[in-house]
Amino acid sequence: MLRKAGGTVLCVMSGLLTGLAASGQSLPNLYPFPNASGLLETNNAGNGPIDLTGPFFQSLGTNGRSCFTCHRPAQGWGISADEVKTRFEMTQGKDPIFRANDGSNCDHNIDTSDVGGRRKAYSLLIDRGLIRVALPAPQTAEFQVVGVMNPYGCSDTVTLSMYRRPLPSTNLRFLSTAMWDGRESSTQTGTQKITFATNPTDLLADFAHQSVDATNGHAQGSTPLTPQQQQAIVNFEMALTTAQAVDYRAGALNTNGATGGPVTLALQTMPAFFVGINDPLGGNPHLIPFTPAIFNLFDAWLNTHSHGDDGHDYGDDPSGQRASIARGQVLFNSKPIQITNVAGLNDDLNLAVLPGTCGTCHDSPNVGNHSVSAPLNIGVGDLTSPLDVSYLPVITLQNKTTHEIKTTTDPGRALITGLWKDVGRLKGPILRGLASRAPYFHNGSADSLSDVVEFYNKRFNIGFTPQEKKDLITFLSAL
Ligand code: HEC
Ligand code: HEC
Repeated sequence: MLRKAGGTVLCVMSGLLTGLAASGQSLPNLYPFPNASGLLETNNAGNGPIDLTGPFFQSLGTNGRSCFTCHRPAQGWGISADEVKTRFEMTQGKDPIFRANDGSNCDHNIDTSDVGGRRKAYSLLIDRGLIRVALPAPQTAEFQVVGVMNPYGCSDTVTLSMYRRPLPSTNLRFLSTAMWDGRESSTQTGTQKITFATNPTDLLADFAHQSVDATNGHAQGSTPLTPQQQQAIVNFEMALTTAQAVDYRAGALNTNGATGGPVTLALQTMPAFFVGINDPLGGNPHLIPFTPAIFNLFDAWLNTHSHGDDGHDYGDDPSGQRASIARGQVLFNSKPIQITNVAGLNDDLNLAVLPGTCGTCHDSPNVGNHSVSAPLNIGVGDLTSPLDVSYLPVITLQNKTTHEIKTTTDPGRALITGLWKDVGRLKGPILRGLASRAPYFHNGSADSLSDVVEFYNKRFNIGFTPQEKKDLITFLSAL
């Protein structure tokens, strides 16, 4: 019910915003966009309105798309499947996001001549908000592609088709790697690895390069962006800080001592972000030890009360939502997880079991991505994932030396480095603004935050109680 109501408002909102962009206007700073659990806001550096006329919003390629086609402020600067569905219905599948180069399940042997055909051709985009990312396996790779079973026809073994969720084009200054597979921060693609010593120059260069690739790829551009256009896009993106600002039941997320919402995130100085800030493997350049207390936004809400001694509902938290958010934060920071079979951790450290928490991998303070580049395979794209991945292709790889076989739905980082050990490794994304951009994980296999929590519960046998699941979801929805 809530979800439905949210959808209607969202649809009006995105219509409004398209109108704004078309008429060359701007978005007031901290404009509140509703989602199912509350309101999401973006803070623009300098607190001025967000200009909707720059190159980010312009069609700079040949297929009518702009960055804004896939990076929408109302969806945390990504897209949600619900919003894409609405866009499909409103335009009968003619909005520029529905383009066959990478919006459709496959780019050939599809019929997009009528709305039924388009519904079928764009089903992964409509149902899960997925974009087809086509990448070749490097010739020099330690492995070869020996088979692809793609349910949509794109079974080419030279260029592989993966299906990935757009990452948010906001909160960029907290990133330690660009793109799911880090390809825009790799010497392999002519970009730079993001390091403590070279930040933020490396980050800015990576996103300038990324803007060119996005225009040439997604927007099928024929002329590269000028340095001025690249700079304008990078400046625009770097100024944005996005977070959930209001929870319908808890109220403003920065009241009564709490420090949620985008304004505090933008001002976050204690601790300020730097590459390696809270790396659990000792990557902090100042040698400051890791703290598992990743989030402290809702510490002050731990002792809120919803019931008086007489049992009546009153106090500063009548719905009990603030206390639930605060308990969820404690779980994120401290619930023990026995980490096993995670490529990038257990293999590299040669540890069968690594005792940890959510924050072992989501370690950047109050942001939740990894503070150094650390591609991991937690099993989201494996055929053994506890979530349904049957809608994805099965890609079979063979090690050229050992002849060992691996099957995956997305080779991830291995397509960039060519390394066998990198198969299936991807970055852990920023965990802010989650409520606005379902589904989750790189392949959209978690429809909801509840599915995310179920994934972890099953994958690592965590043993969350029903109450703990509820609290953790409530907390994640308030980020
Ligand atoms: C057709 C949809 C689409 C369009 C248009 C598009 N993007 Fe993206 N964007 C994506 C997808 C999908 C990803 C993730 C792909 C991956 O990692 O393999 C992404 C990733 C990104 C990221 C990486 C964020 C991170 O956490 O690493 C940035 C920044 C970004 N896009 C900016 C842009 C800009 C700037 C433009 C316009 C020049 C643009 N995008 C156009 C779909 C799109
Ligand atoms: C072993 C490392 C690890 C642990 C432990 C871990 N995560 Fe993750 N998390 C990741 C990686 C890597 C991804 C990206 C995976 C993908 O999409 O393939 C991710 C993705 C996510 C996402 C999806 C974000 C998005 O934008 O789609 C959420 C939400 C999340 N994690 C929450 C949690 C919570 C809550 C816990 C604790 C119960 C947790 N994680 C524990 C590594 C980890």
